[in-house]
Amino acid sequence: MRKLVAGNWKMNGLTADGVARARDLAARAKAAPLACEIALCPPATLLVPVGQAIVGSGLALGGQDCHAEPAGAHTGDISAPMLKDVGCTYVIVGHSERRHEYKESDAVVRAKAAAAVAAGLCAIVCVGESAAERASGRTEAVVVHQLQGSLPPKLGPAKLVVAYEPVWAIGSGRMPTAQDVASVHARIREALRDLTTEAVAVRILYGGSVKAANARELTAVANVDGFLVGGGSLNTEEFWTIASAYG
Ligand code: PGA
Repeated sequence: MRKLVAGNWKMNGLTADGVARARDLAARAKAAPLACEIALCPPATLLVPVGQAIVGSGLALGGQDCHAEPAGAHTGDISAPMLKDVGCTYVIVGHSERRHEYKESDAVVRAKAAAAVAAGLCAIVCVGESAAERASGRTEAVVVHQLQGSLPPKLGPAKLVVAYEPVWAIGSGRMPTAQDVASVHARIREALRDLTTEAVAVRILYGGSVKAANARELTAVANVDGFLVGGGSLNTEEFWTIASAYG
């Protein structure tokens, strides 16, 4: 399967620096395409200019969230058809920052993922345990429970990507060991057998403090099919080095 490295810019960047970063990445991708697929998920305000900057580069565009409804009276929200309309092929749903800051439940995440798929997008559904859950030995149970609640039934690899992001590893510089990542990803793969079609081909990304310095080691971990990169995606050189770990 083709690996996926997605950059989640979160709430960072004004037009000038976002477009400059996208242009730089697009130029690199055109000059020397990488083996992996690369997706940029800028803030909503930059979707259009970043989309324009990456035309013809092979880079993909993604949103960071979508509403479960296609349209309506939802001030401040963006729908999946709107993301599709401006050239997105991906949307992240259920990121832990949204689960925590906006109290998004598994049911809400599932509705958003279903909306994404209905609009023709591929949903990147995030799951991951808190520090307390890991400390109490509940990591795998928590992650499987989140998957069961957050995935619309029987999606396949064209419509679904799963991102395992331990909450305590996001933006902290702390990481699970390669062995811990391998255990959780294997457990996710097993759970996907009941929840998706073609479970072996559904990409499972790792996210949480992925940097140029640790990406290569993670590429060797079984069932790690790419990365969801936050802070490390805000620096072009760093992000390109991370993606280059896949050759
Ligand atoms: P980080 O964020 O790479 O800054 O840890 C990852 C994410 O939240 O997707």
